[in-house]
Amino acid sequence: MAPAFEDNNSETLPSSFSSGSDDGVLHKSKVTVVGSGNWGSVASKLIASNTLRLSSFHDEVRMWVFEETLPSGEKLTDVINRTNENVKYLPGIKLGKNVVADPDLENAVKDANMLVFVTPHQFMEGICKRLVGKVNGDVEAISLIKGMEVKREGPCMISTLISEQLGIAVEKFSEATVGYRDNREIAEKWVQLFSTPYFMVTAVQDVEGVELCGTLKNVVAIAAGFVDGLEMGNNTKAAIMRIGLREMRAFSKLLFSSVKDSTFFESCGVADLITTCLGGRNRKVAEAFAKNEGKRSFDDLEAEMLQGQKLQGVSTAREVYEVLSHRGWLELFPLFATVHEICVGHLPPSAIVEYSERKPRLSLLEGSTQYY
Ligand SMILES: NC(=O)c1ccc[n+]([C@@H]2O[C@H](COP(=O)([O-])OP(=O)(O)OC[C@H]3O[C@@H](n4cnc5c(N)ncnc54)[C@H](O)[C@@H]3O)[C@@H](O)[C@H]2O)c1
Repeated sequence: MAPAFEDNNSETLPSSFSSGSDDGVLHKSKVTVVGSGNWGSVASKLIASNTLRLSSFHDEVRMWVFEETLPSGEKLTDVINRTNENVKYLPGIKLGKNVVADPDLENAVKDANMLVFVTPHQFMEGICKRLVGKVNGDVEAISLIKGMEVKREGPCMISTLISEQLGIAVEKFSEATVGYRDNREIAEKWVQLFSTPYFMVTAVQDVEGVELCGTLKNVVAIAAGFVDGLEMGNNTKAAIMRIGLREMRAFSKLLFSSVKDSTFFESCGVADLITTCLGGRNRKVAEAFAKNEGKRSFDDLEAEMLQGQKLQGVSTAREVYEVLSHRGWLELFPLFATVHEICVGHLPPSAIVEYSERKPRLSLLEGSTQYY
């Protein structure tokens, strides 16, 4: 059983977050992070430093852990609570004593009124099913997850999946950008929870744009990794990033007409794309895939190189490809389509630079979503 953390927060409450009740009773927000991989652990640490600092939040941050037994025979949760460190997914970093690891999903969410979802996207449908009827009615949620579900009726963003299954409004956080739908005040509360003096967070009114930036850049990072593995140099990689950004924007706008161009110039857009294409696990594994001339599968390389961490770009490329072929858009998005075809072995890694002659019919450069 996860231990309880004693709350001793005594700072004064900013007026915008007071309960508004006549008796001045404070309604502190209680945060639970659903997920404890690499980013889940970083997010918990970040949030925990802020809940200690800000009186509008309970100090304790509960972190749901998908339980694993470590090579030592100990449970991961026990080790996190004993050492205050996620020794498997974020070794060497103290999470903060107010982070409490909890392997029981229902228990972890039951008292929370702010939920942060941060698991690999393929597990979210199952997690949502387990949470139906188990979360508070007044809960606010945010998704840090990159990826989408493709269903027969069309693509479903993870924030929409959570909203629909749990009946709650979900904002989106990706790379220092909070995407919100209409409630600016709630968005500001999330900004406050994630901001630190060295990590500036902004809010934009474009949930789908922020979510699609975070999701699609992983596909472009796979392409960048191929270029690195083939040692094609920086000019080629920059060209791939430019075409990738163009396809990201066009695809997002075709799916959701509400998506704003300006979102692609926020941290979640071009900045995150550059970071992911220069470093990051998707680029790294794709580089190894190309170096091995596609003879070792992504599953194989993921297991060997990431040791439990999950690769998002390959599954996202497949999901995007399904959407493209279902809607007859394959020709419009040669980079996205080629990445998937290389991943599944239909094309060699060198094909990443061989489609330039297949000119897309969509006026992607101008940002138009009209067909010619
Ligand atoms: N790592 C980053 O820099 C980063 C940044 C932003 C967003 N994200 C997104 O956050 C999400 C989580 O990524 P991460 O880096 O924290 O995870 P990760 O890849 O480091 O770890 C995988 C996690 O999945 C868990 N897991 C394994 N099997 C499971 C199952 N059957 N059910 C539920 N959980 C299971 C593992 O315990 C582990 O916590 C992803 O959608 C990712 O795209 C990651």
